[in-house]
Amino acid sequence: AINAFIFDLDGVLTDTAEYHYLAWSALANELAVPFDRDDNEQLKGVDRMGSLDYILKKGNVNLTEQQKLTLADKKNLHYQQLINDMSPKDLFEGVTELFAQLKQQNINIGLASASKNAQMVLERLGIADQFDYVADAAKVAQGKPHPEIFLTVAEAFFLPADQCVGIEDSIAGLQSIVSAKMHSVGIGQPEVLYQADVVYADIKSFNLQQVLALA
Ligand code: G6P
Ligand code: MG
Repeated sequence: AINAFIFDLDGVLTDTAEYHYLAWSALANELAVPFDRDDNEQLKGVDRMGSLDYILKKGNVNLTEQQKLTLADKKNLHYQQLINDMSPKDLFEGVTELFAQLKQQNINIGLASASKNAQMVLERLGIADQFDYVADAAKVAQGKPHPEIFLTVAEAFFLPADQCVGIEDSIAGLQSIVSAKMHSVGIGQPEVLYQADVVYADIKSFNLQQVLALA
């Protein structure tokens, strides 16, 4: 049986994936590095410095560690401006209902987000108290696609991986779930998220019975 649902945050529970994209494309533009939505698919779920390294590599730009930190801070300030006005109305449709169904069935709700801004976004959305356990960038050494972040949540619940479902909108995140040997749900396009056991366009299309039947 499935006893835990472990959600990614950005792009799964709210549209912050779009804000990360806007902030990275502004920075890439300043560096004169071409950056489009296909590049962005590769960056979803990837931590801040890893994302910057991808852009620098694409543009053959060589910088010192100090210069890289300055650029990463700049992107983050831009991102924080974009999330500043977020409120509970920015929670994707269907999340409240899905969480209520999970609680009713005594299924643990976890968060696995690579973002150092995760706690702030959860608070803005008004859902910080909805999770039985939150793993964010501060809690893990290895980012996605490594399985550590999803396994950290399963361990906190004292559950084996095959009793957990991971929910992700990113290629790197799905790889993390698959490597953790958990069941997986993709949120987005099936062509991009082909690794997932099942894919829905968005959270409001979630079919709980279908997902519970995975184990
Ligand atoms: C999530 C997002 C990524 C972002 C990463 C780090 O995984 O999907 O796009 O780069 O978090 O976010 P941060 O807020 O720490 O820069
Ligand atoms: Mg995501």
